[in-house]
Amino acid sequence: DARGLKDFYKNYFPIGVAVGKRNLSGEEGALIKKHFNSITAENDMKMESMQPVEGKFNWREADSIISFAAQNNIKVRGHNLCWHEQAPSWFFTDKAGKEVNKTVLLQRLKAHIDAVVGRYKGKIYAWDVVNEAIDDYSTKYLRNSKWYQICGEDFIIKAFEYAHAADPDAKLYYNDYNTERPEKRERVYKLLKSLKDKGVPIDGVGLQAHWSIYEPTEKELVTAIERYSSLGLKIQFTELDLSIYPWEKNKRAKRADESDAYTAELEARQVAKYKMVFSVFRKYKNVITNVTFWNISDRRTWLDGYPVPGRKNYPLLFDTQLKPKKAYWAVIKF
Ligand code: G3I
Repeated sequence: DARGLKDFYKNYFPIGVAVGKRNLSGEEGALIKKHFNSITAENDMKMESMQPVEGKFNWREADSIISFAAQNNIKVRGHNLCWHEQAPSWFFTDKAGKEVNKTVLLQRLKAHIDAVVGRYKGKIYAWDVVNEAIDDYSTKYLRNSKWYQICGEDFIIKAFEYAHAADPDAKLYYNDYNTERPEKRERVYKLLKSLKDKGVPIDGVGLQAHWSIYEPTEKELVTAIERYSSLGLKIQFTELDLSIYPWEKNKRAKRADESDAYTAELEARQVAKYKMVFSVFRKYKNVITNVTFWNISDRRTWLDGYPVPGRKNYPLLFDTQLKPKKAYWAVIKF
């Protein structure tokens, strides 16, 4: 069959994948061209990759992703402009090693966003402007990151304003994980609502979708989509994968175990979960504007060894030989 995932979903939404420069040639490159019409840089557009040293930008990897996309008629999602991880420490300190004040930090954020968004103006159609600003603890609201400590909530507002000024046509997203869990969902909703109420230029919310074969339930997924879209926001599923291990057990497991095998039973559950989530996605095609997988195949995924060292995971639609898995056939049959 010459058709790929993107063809089956052409009347729904673009289908994306997270990549690095190394993935763009050979058999992986061919697989990307066949199945995907959107790409995201897995790491190459993050703050430390783009501007490792103040004023010294590194465009090499990001440029090659952009030109691969242009040559193959693939859209690009930008990931990301402001995050507490993979943000180099020079942002937060002066030459003497002292913490900078809010004015200086916001100037640096603006200079970064101007340069990055400006360079790819018209080439990146949607940006994750702020990533993961909500705290992990249910009793807290915004994450106590350096950004927050120095700027308070303003860093979020300003990041969107700077991005909008640098490319008024780019769609701007707030991106986070565990966004279907009820208590986190409500804290994310609170942030999104406050941004909308203040007139901040935000187009939508990125739901990362680092899920597992155990969660979310259909009800949790539907409730989240309806809750966020009630604010008039679009939704993109930005980092989809379905771990074969439950996240809660992960926290306790210290190392890989012999029982950590990809059994037929686990695969069957994964097929069912993929089927469910894609059938929900199709129902909400009017608000969902992108669905992106976090990596191409089970050959290499960020979940290998995370959070349990040495443990292999199998969260995607293509196997370690790049062949479509049962879950692939399940999501294209509708
Ligand atoms: O590039 C260096 C390499 O030179 C070095 O030899 C090697 C040794 O560890 O590290 C390499 O860098 C790693 C980088 O991935 C590239 O592979 C970093 O250590 C590693 O921390 C980094 O992990 C990335 C992670 O974000 C960082 O927090 C993952 O690949 C990437 O998949 C992951 O993606 C995040 C999203 O951006 C946001 N949402 C969650 C998602 C999963 O954590």
